[in-house]
Amino acid sequence: MKYDFDKIIDRKNTNSAKWNLVKPIYGSEDVIPMWVADMDFPTAQPIVDALVKRAQHPIYGYADTGKSVVEAVVERMKRKYNWKIKPEWVVFTPGVIPAISAVIKSLTHPGDEIVLQEPVYYPFFSCVKENGCQIAVNQLRFKDGQYQMDFADLENKFKPQGGMHFRDSRIKAIVLCNPHNPVGRVWGREDLIKLGKIVIGNGRIVISDEIHCELMLKGYKHTPFASISKEFEQNSIVCMAPSKTFNLAGLSASSIIIPNKKLRDAFREAGAGHGLNVFGITALEAAYRYGDEWLEQLLDYLQGNLDFLNKYFKEKIPRIKPVQLQGTYLLWLDCRGLGLDDKALSDFMKKQAKLGFDDGTMFGEGGSGFERMNIACPRPMLKEALERLEKAVKNLKKG
Ligand SMILES: Cc1ncc(COP(=O)(O)O)c(C=O)c1O
Repeated sequence: MKYDFDKIIDRKNTNSAKWNLVKPIYGSEDVIPMWVADMDFPTAQPIVDALVKRAQHPIYGYADTGKSVVEAVVERMKRKYNWKIKPEWVVFTPGVIPAISAVIKSLTHPGDEIVLQEPVYYPFFSCVKENGCQIAVNQLRFKDGQYQMDFADLENKFKPQGGMHFRDSRIKAIVLCNPHNPVGRVWGREDLIKLGKIVIGNGRIVISDEIHCELMLKGYKHTPFASISKEFEQNSIVCMAPSKTFNLAGLSASSIIIPNKKLRDAFREAGAGHGLNVFGITALEAAYRYGDEWLEQLLDYLQGNLDFLNKYFKEKIPRIKPVQLQGTYLLWLDCRGLGLDDKALSDFMKKQAKLGFDDGTMFGEGGSGFERMNIACPRPMLKEALERLEKAVKNLKKG
């Protein structure tokens, strides 16, 4: 079946956060929302069919995930990454963020520290803080147009200081974001190995948020952190979900893969494994079993959006430089060439360009001068957004 991603579908009056919150966040209805990470595309037909079928059964009582859904996750890990996981490693949760918060709760005591690689997806900050912990920033470095990890700083953070035993160090874990939101980087195997050796070598845990892992642009390949070695498997927690890939975030269905029984039991005790709702279960299984034809076409379309946009910026808005996007549909825009401070940049995007981006400063250290743009929309909408931006930048030059 051939999907039409060009078609603009009105999402007003559908309880869409992205569209409902335009006025409260950006101050005016005529802003194009390009912020929260969902797509303005309809999901795969087999998922819609499965949901309609389930909805037609008129009893929506308490749900049990059942064997078949677990098998769908196990089979997908094997098929996509040749990663052989066991059914009992999979814990379903309504979201990745509540899962990360519960992992942190299970690993820490108040006052402990969790390492984050800023600029990074900002809800990680509250996952750390709501557990009474502190953030230790291992800032990503932007060098030659590419983001890189600062391994020397990472080593410094995880290595116990002054002869202290690692058990006494307050740093308990790192939240890895792969692919990285907002900088769009797909971490390579070598990077993951280096990071794992530092963190796990010092007796600590890697919480790997891989929610965007199936959104790979041309030439990039995802490696699940835990698939690298048995040692990595036993010392990490991998957060997966079909929500970003298949545009199902409103159905609250994630699968957290925890090979180590001790970590898994502690996670359950921390109260994260609340299971899924009937529609989440149905959609997750249909996506993993029957969604690939749609996904292939989606990835082609996203690549087309990206190529169109890169050309547009180069030719018509050269003062803004998109950072090379390797994975996700969230583009990190280097706006420092506009010469605006962060408040002025934020105002410029919403009031002059009429675009609803996420300000770079929301993502922590290293976010100043940047904006995050969601490019998962029909191309005519993307074109309109770029035209608005071009016009606003031209006027800025005049002013
Ligand atoms: C890196 C990352 N993790 C987690 C989430 C949200 O996960 P959930 O809605 O499952 O809590 C997002 C959503 O944008 C994300 O980008």
